[in-house]
Amino acid sequence: MTTTGTRTADAARALSATAYGPQPVGTWSAPGRVNLIGEHTDYNDGFVLPFAIQHRTHVALAPRQDARIRVVSRFLRSSDGDGGVVEAGLAELAELFPGRRDEVPEWARYPLGVAWALIEAAEADPRSVTGVDLAFASDVPVGAGLSSSAAIEGATAVALAETWGLDLDGPALAQIGRRAENEAVGAPTGIMDQMASLLGRPDAAIFLDCRSLEAEVVDLGFADAGLELLVIDTGVKHSHATGGYGERRAACERAAAAMGVPALRDVAAADLPRLAGLVDEVTFRRARHIVTENQRVLDTVRTLREQGPTAIGDLLVASHASMRDDFEISVPELDTAVEAALGAGAVGARMTGGGFGGAAIALVSHDSVERVAAAARAAFEASGFTAPTIFTVTPSAGAARD
Ligand code: GLA
Repeated sequence: MTTTGTRTADAARALSATAYGPQPVGTWSAPGRVNLIGEHTDYNDGFVLPFAIQHRTHVALAPRQDARIRVVSRFLRSSDGDGGVVEAGLAELAELFPGRRDEVPEWARYPLGVAWALIEAAEADPRSVTGVDLAFASDVPVGAGLSSSAAIEGATAVALAETWGLDLDGPALAQIGRRAENEAVGAPTGIMDQMASLLGRPDAAIFLDCRSLEAEVVDLGFADAGLELLVIDTGVKHSHATGGYGERRAACERAAAAMGVPALRDVAAADLPRLAGLVDEVTFRRARHIVTENQRVLDTVRTLREQGPTAIGDLLVASHASMRDDFEISVPELDTAVEAALGAGAVGARMTGGGFGGAAIALVSHDSVERVAAAARAAFEASGFTAPTIFTVTPSAGAARD
């Protein structure tokens, strides 16, 4: 574990001791993620290529004598503003989710939702499983499109699965995390973030078929190629529980229904002219993004394997253009970050994650990191935008006990 990781794990332990008293039995952690390419394709049964990053959420766990669960978090504040301990009976979770989730402070819906989904998946009697006190600390930037939520879900899932003696693999735990996010939080998201957080590997991306959940590890080789992956966090906050994300998903489902297929995964580029005659112009463009993005993921995997990472720049740029023009989920800050990075010599750049804010990524040569970062800062200043936060990320390991 890195020094930062050790510090964050220590912070989770310290928070546990302060909030609950007895020493926790251990800490578990899960990373955030960057998506290299394949945006909004996951809930269309398509392909994605994310990787786990070095930023992690750690959870310290202390068992309890009763069947209750308490959660507290160092960085994330509950929506009612007290930031304190949230407590529930494990049997009570089935009454709260999904119908009465509004009674649970917003951030606590993630860990409590995972506990609920895990108990349901295991068909366990909530009165007979060990009660737990959980304390979270995280260095995953919140609201940056780097899946701070999947990191909470992943850390909770591995900690509880081990404590409760449940033998569930990464994809099973990822599905539990997604169920928590969909039903306990109310965000209609796909499976990508949870799979990346659970299955991440150092120096590699996860090539995921979101229909079969088959995952292949794809070497990225950034360091050998002298490349760095820069994150440019615009600071524009987004929420996938409201608005645009769900609308995009509904448009994709309409287009698939018009074509008479289960999902847009089943539509090929050659089918697009026919689709154009079946749906309105906006729905058509939404679908065209998905169909072309799926192909770009396949092309990126092939290019990485055959030619290495310096050759994927055009695919990243085409992905951004498709999200900006067809899917319309970019914002001026993200476009500015991408244009500035490319203008300063980045190999490729695109927004990453669900959109409507969050971060852009830029693939840059080691010696142009400073130049690209300076160009992005200057472009933001010239446009009157709040200064971005810029840092490099390293493809890292997935969720585990620390
Ligand atoms: C968010 C969701 C993912 C995925 C991306 C867009 O991160 O959580 O499931 O849909 O947006 O690719």
